Amino acid sequence: MRKHIGFNKPYLTGKETHYIYNAVSTGKLSGNGQYTKKCQNFFQDRYNFKKCLLTTSCTDALEMASILIDVQKGDEIIMPSYTFVSTANAFVLRGAKIVFADSYIDHPNIDPLAIEKLITERTKAIVVVHYAGVACDMDLIMEIAERHNLFVIEDAAQAIESFYKGRPLGGIGHLAAFSFHETKNIISGEGGMLVINDDRFVERSEIIWEKGTNRSAFFRGEIDKYGWVDIGSSFLPSELIAAFLWAQLENLDDIQSKRKNIWDKYYEQLSNSSISSFDLPFIPEYATNNAHMFYLLFSNIGNRNDTIKSLNQSNINAVFHYLSLHKSKFYEAKHDGRELPNCDFFASGLLRLPLYYELEEVSYITESIAKSV
Ligand SMILES: Cc1ncc(COP(=O)(O)O)c(C=O)c1O
Repeated sequence: MRKHIGFNKPYLTGKETHYIYNAVSTGKLSGNGQYTKKCQNFFQDRYNFKKCLLTTSCTDALEMASILIDVQKGDEIIMPSYTFVSTANAFVLRGAKIVFADSYIDHPNIDPLAIEKLITERTKAIVVVHYAGVACDMDLIMEIAERHNLFVIEDAAQAIESFYKGRPLGGIGHLAAFSFHETKNIISGEGGMLVINDDRFVERSEIIWEKGTNRSAFFRGEIDKYGWVDIGSSFLPSELIAAFLWAQLENLDDIQSKRKNIWDKYYEQLSNSSISSFDLPFIPEYATNNAHMFYLLFSNIGNRNDTIKSLNQSNINAVFHYLSLHKSKFYEAKHDGRELPNCDFFASGLLRLPLYYELEEVSYITESIAKSV
């Protein structure tokens, strides 16, 4: 019997424990030390982001964004329903009403044409999710937002090293949130980052990050004592997390090239086969592929689930993804009742294949798919 092929296997570059040891031996274990700064500077320099703050998760970065745009009870936030629960939860925590928009018919990303008719006087922001690291159509979305005076927040959890018309994802909206959870391309166990692209949020972001205090300004010598000046929380990760992340960032190019090779192999082998029972991922011309995910799209849940079962029998762990948030136990009664058929289609038809740095069994997986459908 073949060895089990997991859906994900966290990749270690080999330097993680070295940098963690180094952080420990300097005696600076809490946040905002040398590794935090190295990581933040890396992103600011590589992608020309205005300001980056490491967080303990993408969920936390989204919660910071929600505080920063000053969400009030009853404010409406437009976002796709086909997304992770944190995209919505971050705003619900502050009293917002979530207005779910449908996805494109051929891609899980939010359809800009679905957005405009959902805008009301209470709308405060549009949250976009770059699903599988593939860009939403940001020119259209930014134009709608500007016309209606709305904030745009990019949920870039899966979107590291991916671009829209040459511009890095995470650098287009007013704010953006990345994830370094162990299932992402670049990892630190749990981890994330808030990107601030709008000057108005720069100063306050540091305060919210540091439990509502102006501690960062104090440590830079800008003020002579620090105190409680705003709401906030403990959003910053320890230096141990940042040290781990630094080892990953040093190898970003290698990790990306390896993942892209695997993705291309999947695409080539599956598009050359005569199987017609599913569609392959679609990448619009304006977007790049960061090889975060390889998925198949089945036209119905039965065929999708049968394929998952059959791959499991071949010792391959393939998985589905999000369930529609507008139909979730928590939000169904709060949703306005509109049908979101494209979102439901991805919830029932999408299947994700294993994709990680050390994956060597792409041919075995594609052969197993051919046998199973
Ligand atoms: C689109 C999206 N947003 C947010 C998150 C939350 O990320 P984290 O686990 O870093 O909080 C995820 C997690 O996978 C995600 O897929």
